[in-house]
Amino acid sequence: MLVDSFGRVATDLRVSLTDRCNLRCSYCMPPEGLDWLPKPELLTADEVVRLVTIGVERLGITEVRYTGGEPLLRGDLVEIVAATAALRPRPQISLTTNGIGLARLAEPLARGGLDRVNVSLDTLDRDVFVRLAHRDRLGDVLDGLAGAASAGLLPVKVNTVLMRDVNEHEAVPLLRFCLERGYELRFIEQMPLDAQHGWRRDRMVTADEILGLLKDSFDLTEDDPRARGSAPAELFLVDGGPARVGVIGSVTRPFCGACDRVRLTADGQVRNCLFATDESDLRSALRSGASDDDLAARWVAAVRGKRAGHGIDDPSFLQPARPMSAIGG
Ligand code: GTP
Ligand code: 5AD
Ligand code: SF4
Repeated sequence: MLVDSFGRVATDLRVSLTDRCNLRCSYCMPPEGLDWLPKPELLTADEVVRLVTIGVERLGITEVRYTGGEPLLRGDLVEIVAATAALRPRPQISLTTNGIGLARLAEPLARGGLDRVNVSLDTLDRDVFVRLAHRDRLGDVLDGLAGAASAGLLPVKVNTVLMRDVNEHEAVPLLRFCLERGYELRFIEQMPLDAQHGWRRDRMVTADEILGLLKDSFDLTEDDPRARGSAPAELFLVDGGPARVGVIGSVTRPFCGACDRVRLTADGQVRNCLFATDESDLRSALRSGASDDDLAARWVAAVRGKRAGHGIDDPSFLQPARPMSAIGG
């Protein structure tokens, strides 16, 4: 088991498959992109599957989420998903994606064993999309969402990072759009994980503000908090339910106390927290011939040192050196 010194058990493995992305969302990276990891440093599909297998068979991982960067850019994604689905006990398998290419890939991924997807969608306005993501791809994202739903990758969850003076005014239309299509929308507080280090707390749209933006248009009642478990989203029934909307208040309403996550970066480093300051290099160990026992022991040790929480409010808080795209969303 992967237990930390506070008794939290990590069962949810989030694997970044690439740090590359075909969008340039401002809360994540600059318009010119970043220096991507050199290809030889990325784990191969076989290496990913070997580590995931150790996680599932020996360390109690029950959920595997593939992320990026943009995981659909990995040509071997279907293969990786299928190998993950063949593991016993079979983990839940999900994907966090920007949706570009999902229209074509949703079916093969579902056939390979993918259970569900979370798709980022911050705006329904093409001009705002281009301003925010520096690419004209809103249509591809919307097609991807529809493709995921028709391939049965349910529930389709939508992630929206709300930003002041950018897309705040779209909170209500975005929720209507998702309600009409049966997608579960979650509004997310922006975190200090952008490569440009431009995050300012006073610019962040808080969970309280998000609920304020919705309350004149929808009747929101808190869903049973016992059902939340370790999930990051607080869920609210919309107009009596059954449809729900989520608010992920990572900064002002942290859920670190219930955290069950551990991460593997695209270059094979275990991170025990999004905001971890150090990593454990499984790739080097793996490539120099380490046994499964050895890799498992390194992983256990890496999780033991997990801190109590992200510490964004501490005066000594330091943003991690890696941006979100290189850590995994
Ligand atoms: P499900 O609800 O199980 O689908 O998972 P999820 O919400 O974790 O998935 P997703 O990858 O879509 O992440 C949604 C948002 O949750 C991210 O944008 C982050 O804001 C937040 N988040 C994800 N992982 C972490 C984490 O480890 N720590 C914190 N503080 N926030 C996280
Ligand atoms: N703060 C909050 N959420 C972020 N995401 C990316 N960068 C940030 C950030 N700085 C979100 C994306 C995606 C999810 C994986 O993480 O919107 O949906
Ligand atoms: Fe877990 Fe760290 Fe995320 Fe908090 S910030 S929820 S401890 S991974």
